[in-house]
Amino acid sequence: MKGFIFDLDGVIVDTAKYHYLAWKHLADQLGIPFSEEDNERFKGVSRRRCLEILLEMGGMEVPQIQFDAWLQEKNEDYLRYISQMDSSEILPDVPRVLDYLRGKDIPMALGSASKNAKAILEKVELTSYFRTIVDGTEVAKAKPDPEVFLIAAYRLKIPPADCVVLEDALAGIEAANSAGMYSIGIGDPKVLFEADRVFRDFTQIELDYLEELLYLNSKPVK
Ligand code: BG6
Ligand code: MG
Repeated sequence: MKGFIFDLDGVIVDTAKYHYLAWKHLADQLGIPFSEEDNERFKGVSRRRCLEILLEMGGMEVPQIQFDAWLQEKNEDYLRYISQMDSSEILPDVPRVLDYLRGKDIPMALGSASKNAKAILEKVELTSYFRTIVDGTEVAKAKPDPEVFLIAAYRLKIPPADCVVLEDALAGIEAANSAGMYSIGIGDPKVLFEADRVFRDFTQIELDYLEELLYLNSKPVK
């Protein structure tokens, strides 16, 4: 029996663009140049760590109270974007893959660094697909640490070597690999080169391939 663990931002919904816009807004205020390429480093990474990276980029050190105020400002900005979301923002062919796996009774989990994950899943009406949701409110160690995926596997009652992870962030692929799971990258193969397999998006994932995965031997321990 296999278990599937999905990242949320950039895999199920295109919220990566909203995170980028909210960080860009703050970066502009602080006079720190911030491009979409810089934003790659923010994918899969906790809100707190993102701000630390941004301030490192700007060579800034600030008191805790200012740091917390900017964290809150970024999140309020981000929440304004996601308040408009509905199921039309589910990425193409995600429901096709979720329906296929649910049809086979494959246990599925969400494994996200976001503290907003549950609210987003509700907005796009996908909550019921997942047996468990592990989000940024529950993990102590951010990706690339495997903690989030190991908790998800434990709750699904599936050994890590029989779990398949779908991720758009290099930090997430590294987390899946160090958990001993099969990693599928969603995005640019040049960025996600450490994944066991990469697809540009879900439209490229054939059901035959998923079927093969279901019968694949457990991933060998490295
Ligand atoms: C991850 C995103 O899913 O969640 C990161 O890829 C983001 O970019 C992180 O920083 C934390 O999200 P939130 O919603 O708790 O600020
Ligand atoms: Mg992501």
